[in-house]
Formats: sequence, C-alpha cells, structure tokens
Amino acid sequence: MASGVEQDKSLQSICYKRGSLQLLDQRKLPLETIYLEIRHTKDGWTAIRDMVVRGAPAIAIAAALSLAVEASNLGAFNGTSDDAASFLSNKLEYLISSRPTAVNLSDAATKLKDIIQKAASNASEAQTVFQAYIKAAEVMLEDDVASNKAIGSYGARFLQKQHNDSEKLSILTHCNTGSLATAGYGTALGVIRALHADGVLGRAFCTETRPFNQGSRLTAFELVHDNIPATLIADSAAAALMKTGKVNAVIVGADRVAANGDTANKIGTYSLALCAVHHGIPFYVAAPLTSIDLSLSSGQEIVIEERSAKELLNARGGLGEQVAASGISVWNPAFDITPANIISGIITEKVVITKDGSDSFDIKSFILKVLSKE
Ligand code: MRU
Repeated sequence: MASGVEQDKSLQSICYKRGSLQLLDQRKLPLETIYLEIRHTKDGWTAIRDMVVRGAPAIAIAAALSLAVEASNLGAFNGTSDDAASFLSNKLEYLISSRPTAVNLSDAATKLKDIIQKAASNASEAQTVFQAYIKAAEVMLEDDVASNKAIGSYGARFLQKQHNDSEKLSILTHCNTGSLATAGYGTALGVIRALHADGVLGRAFCTETRPFNQGSRLTAFELVHDNIPATLIADSAAAALMKTGKVNAVIVGADRVAANGDTANKIGTYSLALCAVHHGIPFYVAAPLTSIDLSLSSGQEIVIEERSAKELLNARGGLGEQVAASGISVWNPAFDITPANIISGIITEKVVITKDGSDSFDIKSFILKVLSKE
C-alpha cells in the first residue's frame, strides 16, 4: 500500500476511476485527510484488516475494486478465459478472509464469481472475463449510493408515520454508518440525513463507540460536516440519555442479519437495544439487502470477529499510548448480536421489514413479496 496522497477534506471513503483506487485512511480522521493508493488485492486486504476502510458496504466495495484495479493493470495474461476466472475467484476468496463478520463482502464475492463464470463460459479470451469483472465491480460502487438514498427515504417516511406528533424526531445512533462506511450517504446515518433534509430531525445523538471510536471520530465528523444538529455521548451515557425522554428512536446499521432478524453489529449495539426496550423506545436496524444472510437461521450462527487486545490496551483504538495496566487479559469482540425480539423493524432499500406481533422477522417472505412486485 503506497501512502501519502493528500486530497481535499471530504467524506468520500472510496475514490475510484478505472485502473486507480484510493481509500481515505479512516484511522487518521478527523484530524488528517489522507488517501492511500490501492494497487492490488494485497493492498485491499491489508487496508480492510487494518481499518483504513471499514463499515460493511465500504469493505465489500473496496475489496471488489482492489481486484478491479489489479485486473485493469495486469498487462499480458497468459491463459484462457477459464484461467482468468480461476485467477479472479482465488483473489476474491483471499479478500473474504480479511474480516469475517460483515456478510456484504462474501455476498459481493459470490455475485462477482457468478458473473466471472458466465463470462468464462461465453468467451475463450481472458480479457473478456477481466472486463466483465471490472464492469461488475464498478456497478457495485454506483448501486450502493442509490441503495443508501432509498434506505434513507424509506426510513424517514416510516419514522414520520410512526411518530405522529408535532415534535421533531431525535435519533440515537451507534458506530459509523455514514458516507464513510459506504460508497456514500450511509444507511442508519442516511436515515438521519433524510430526516434532516425533510426538516423533521430534532437532534442526532451519536455514541463514541469504543474502543475504535467510530462514533466520535467518524460519525461526529460527518454530522458536523453536514451541519446536522448533533450531540456526542459516551457509550455509557446511553441509558441515562434515554431516561431523559430525549430519544425518539435508536437506529443502527448491520454487519449481518440472519433470516429471523437477529443482527450482528458493532459491539455495544445489543446494550443499546436492551436500554431502548426498557425505556419503550423503538430500535431499528437500517441495512441494504446485501447485509441479509438468509443462509443463517439465527444470529447464533454468525461468526464474531475478535480484534487485537491493543485496541483496548492503548489509546486511539490501539494506535496511541498505553492506557491499561500491563498484564491484564482482554476480550475484544468487534461485534455483538442483537436478538430479533428486541428489534422493532429493519429498514432496507426496498421495504421496511416489520414483525406483526411475533418475536422474529420472516425476512424471506418480505423479500419474496417485494421481488414479485418488481
Ligand atoms: O468495525 P467496523 O467499523 O467495520 O464496524 C462497522 C459497523 O458495525 C457498522 O455499524 C456496520 O458495518 C454498518 S455500516 C453501514
């Protein structure tokens, strides 16, 4: 990964044009805006593992595009279309291993592998397969922003319908689910952006999101950038804030949603959902359909990534000076599972999935219903 390409301050985490990919180094935000040049899948894998780029949709797109730039700049390739397909499929497998919990990356890889296989069976030239791959990865980048805007508008409309009094809505969110975590606009933060654009947002509250501080560094940065009225709270202040009555709804993103609606998201999400239930506050997940994993019947099957002890032992999510006592052992799961029974609804780009009184969601039926209307 080559470093040090300075660009204007921006909320764009992924800068791509054919043959060239730069990722905003989110570890340096909010103090520095530095883009790193990504030349091939190894650079992409390292950038994802080391949190240069993070957030489920952004990880998937950055991974896909890191292989697209490698394919664009490959030069001569001695092999058939089948060889090209195997080359690309192996690289996709490697990219999936960078971070296991977010399903968007493996979902993207599966879709891309299908496209590669089809291209290989219809052509004998390797270049045709590479071009089909590059085009498909580029479409993923374009589609993500449109999908986030749809999540924002469905979510904002739904919340306004639920909340039929004249007061503006104040929303608590966790982690960073905004422009930086996606190709642009964001999911849960996209709903907040849409409420603000509609003139009905009272205030956004964002948690610090320890230990990596995606909330205080990234979400706060986006909210200030967009002039959205917002307040930062310590993670441990969430219950006290809810008790004041100042929060109308909690909205978070997702890394993986099982078929029954159990949701893996940033560590601390489960605590927020429990607090929300206690205070009678609705708790929503906002995520694209690519975050839903219908192959898993419940959240118990979701593999939770554990990260380095250093994230807790040292300041700035492991990048700064030591703050914890030497010798202490550490448990640092990056995500937790919020059970479906305490989730009020799942806001997607096609539909808001609700439960109709039962304890879990029937996501498959919702999706089939939507697809049958298209
Ligand atoms: O460890 P991170 O920063 O990748 O975790 C991100 C989250 O948990 C987000 O809430 C989730 O990926 C949704 S991003 C639109």
